[in-house]
Amino acid sequence: MRRIKIFDTTLRDGEQSPGASLNVGQKLVIARQLDRLGVDVIEAGFPITSSGDFESVKLIAAEVTRPVICSLARTRPEDIDAAARALEGAKRKRIHVFIATSDIHMDKKLRMSADQVVETAIRGVKLARNHTDDVEFSPEDCSRTDLDFMCRVVEAAIDAGATTINIPDTVGYGIPTEVSRRITYLRAKVPGVSKITLSIHCHNDLGLAVANSLAAMEAGCEQIECTINGLGERAGNASLEEIVMALWCRRESFQAETGINTHEIFKTSRLVSELTGISVQRNKAIVGENAFAHEAGIHQHGVMAHRNTYEIIHAEDVGWEGQQIVVGKHSGIHAIEQVLSKHRYNLDKDQLRDVTNRVKQLADSKKTIEEDDIVAIALNVLDQLAPNEQLLELKEVSVMTGNGFTPSATVKLLIGGREVIGMGTGVGPVDAAAHALQSVIHQEFGPSLELKEYGLKAITGGTDALANAQIRFSDQESNSFRGEAINKDIIMASVLAMVEGANRAVNFQKRSRSQSKAPPAPQPSRNAL
Ligand code: KIV
Ligand code: ZN
Repeated sequence: MRRIKIFDTTLRDGEQSPGASLNVGQKLVIARQLDRLGVDVIEAGFPITSSGDFESVKLIAAEVTRPVICSLARTRPEDIDAAARALEGAKRKRIHVFIATSDIHMDKKLRMSADQVVETAIRGVKLARNHTDDVEFSPEDCSRTDLDFMCRVVEAAIDAGATTINIPDTVGYGIPTEVSRRITYLRAKVPGVSKITLSIHCHNDLGLAVANSLAAMEAGCEQIECTINGLGERAGNASLEEIVMALWCRRESFQAETGINTHEIFKTSRLVSELTGISVQRNKAIVGENAFAHEAGIHQHGVMAHRNTYEIIHAEDVGWEGQQIVVGKHSGIHAIEQVLSKHRYNLDKDQLRDVTNRVKQLADSKKTIEEDDIVAIALNVLDQLAPNEQLLELKEVSVMTGNGFTPSATVKLLIGGREVIGMGTGVGPVDAAAHALQSVIHQEFGPSLELKEYGLKAITGGTDALANAQIRFSDQESNSFRGEAINKDIIMASVLAMVEGANRAVNFQKRSRSQSKAPPAPQPSRNAL
C-alpha cells in the first residue's frame, strides 16, 4: 500500500472561504483537533497577510508538535521572512512558496516574463531554504499553465532546493483525465520529481476537486492538499473527509492509505462548522446530516435486514452515531415499528399500519417527521393521550441592548396557568433571551435540558427579512428536541423556537412517565426527536 500524506489547509485556504474568519484561539483549537485526526501537515496561515495570521501560525507552531506546521509565502523576501519568523518555535516546520505560472496570471497579474517568473521562483525557494530544509513550491494556476513551462519551473524549483512540489488547480478548471495526464507528463519530463514529494491541490469550481485529487494521486502524487468540509476560496477546496473515506472505502482499488483516524472525522467537521459559522450541507457526503440516513421504506427494510445492503460506510466509521432511520413519506411499517419499540410501545400489525398511514399523511404537509410526532400519532391511535399539548406558552419578551452595557432580557411564560418570569444576560440580545428562557426551564423542569444547537437564517432579503430560528435541546439521556419558528423579529423567532423545543421535551417526559410502568431502558443517543 502507498502511504498518502494528508496536507490540511483548513486554517489557510479554508479560512479564505467568504465568511469563514477565525480568531487565533479558534485556530489553535482546530489545529489541536487536526492533530488528533492524524493529518501529516497543517498549513496554519499566511503570516504576511495579517498580524492575526502571523500570531496563529506562531501559536500553533509552539503548541502542536506532531504534524509538520506549514506557513505560506509569496516569493517576496518579506513574505518568506514573516513565514520563517512565525515558524521559529515549531518542532517540524515547512515554508510553502508560490508564484503564478499561467500566461494569464504572468501577463495580467504579475506583469512578468516567463524568465522573470523562473528566476523569482528560484530566489524564493533558496531564501526559504535558508530557514528550513522543508520547502514546498507551488506554480499557482498550474492547471492553466503550459505543460513545458510547468516542467521548466518545477525543475528549477527542485534544483533550488524545494522538497515538495505542489500542483495547484487554483481555479478548479481541471478534469480528472487531464490532471492525471499533467502529473504523468511532469514525472516523465522532470526526473528530479522522483526525489521529492509530489502534491496536488484542487479547488472545486466544477465540483471535481475530490475526483481530480484522486486522479492525481493515482498518477503518482503522494500528498493531497484538502480542507475540512471542503471549505476554501469560492466553491472551496477538495474535502478532506471525502478523500480520506474514498481511500478508506476503496483501499483495495487504490492500493493506498492515509494516517487519518477516521473516527475523528465527524467531530472535526462539526468543530470547524461551529467555529467558522459555515454549516455543513445536509446531503454532503460523509459528514452531512443525511449521509447515513435512510428514508425510503425499501432501503430501511434492507438496512434493518443487513446494513451493507445500502451502506458502504457506516456512521460509526467516521465517529458518528448518525441517524440511521429517518421517517418520511417513503418510509414503511418496519421503520415505524422500530421507532415505536425504541419508545417502548408495542402495537399490533393493524395499529402499526394505521400509524404508518397517518405518518405518511403528515409527511405530505410537514418537511421533517420527528420521533415524537410518531409517538403522538401512535398514542392517538391507541387513544391514550392527546398529541403535543402547549404546556408552556410565551406571554412576553423584552430585551435591552446597545453599546456600553450588557444585553439583558426578561421573558414571561404561562405554565399550567401560572405566570413564570425568567431573566438573563448574554453577549447579545438573542443570547440574553436564550438565557432568560433557559432560567425558566431550569427552574421549572430541572437542569436536564440543555440548548445544544442554535441556527438563524434570513428567509427573505432586506432589513425587514423574515427570520427562521432552529434550535435543539438535549436532555440527560441524549434525547433531543427540535424547535423552529419564523418571525420578523430575530429575538421573537429565537424565543418561540426555544418554547417549541421545550414544549416537545416536556410532552415527551410526560408521556414517558405515563407510559412506562417500569423505568425506561437507557436509549442510545439520537437526533430524531
Ligand atoms: O489554489 C492555489 O493556487 C493556492 C496556492 C497558494 C497553493 O492555494
Ligand atoms: Zn488554493
